[in-house]
Amino acid sequence: MPRLLVVHHSPTPTVRRLTDAVLAGTRDDEIEGVDVVVRAALDAHADDVLAADGVLLGTTANFGYMSGALKHFFDTIFLEAGGALADDGSAAGDASGPAGKKPWGLFVHGRYDTTGAVRSVETIVGALPWRQAAPVLEVLGDPTDEQLAAAYELGGTLAALLT
Ligand SMILES: Cc1cc2nc3c(=O)[nH]c(=O)nc-3n(C[C@H](O)[C@H](O)[C@H](O)COP(=O)(O)O)c2cc1C
Repeated sequence: MPRLLVVHHSPTPTVRRLTDAVLAGTRDDEIEGVDVVVRAALDAHADDVLAADGVLLGTTANFGYMSGALKHFFDTIFLEAGGALADDGSAAGDASGPAGKKPWGLFVHGRYDTTGAVRSVETIVGALPWRQAAPVLEVLGDPTDEQLAAAYELGGTLAALLT
């Protein structure tokens, strides 16, 4: 059965609401035959990624970057997941292009500005053999009903791609 891995950092009730909406979307009644594996970012391992057919990431914005928890996830899995490092230690390579690559999605929650957090994730996943499957969902402050619906849609989109 195809597997969708959801790796998230959801430290507050507000973010948890967003994550729950994403997860509800992955389990929409119309989507059958997809195994959804959910991991807190600090508990996710390379084996989880290697066993997954798609990856859905969620993080808070912290200090203009992704959360330390999601960064820890990437620090842990990057090389085993097929990433390469440049001589200066930055994420290297151009992993763009659709063929044979794991679809990925991302939602980011912040209070002020999520630009740097989104960029930080994009820089790293751009060097993995993954392909972006949906626009990044960025939410500031308390999620509106529309944003929760968009979160549900994001989850549903990633899961449906694997059917
Ligand atoms: C140390 C720290 C740094 C933060 N940096 C950012 C940031 O760069 N951009 C942003 O939009 N929000 C930032 N925030 C807000 C968090 O993203 C926000 O608190 C988190 O998503 C949880 O949302 P909530 O506080 O509404 O529950 C920061 C929060 C903390 C505690």
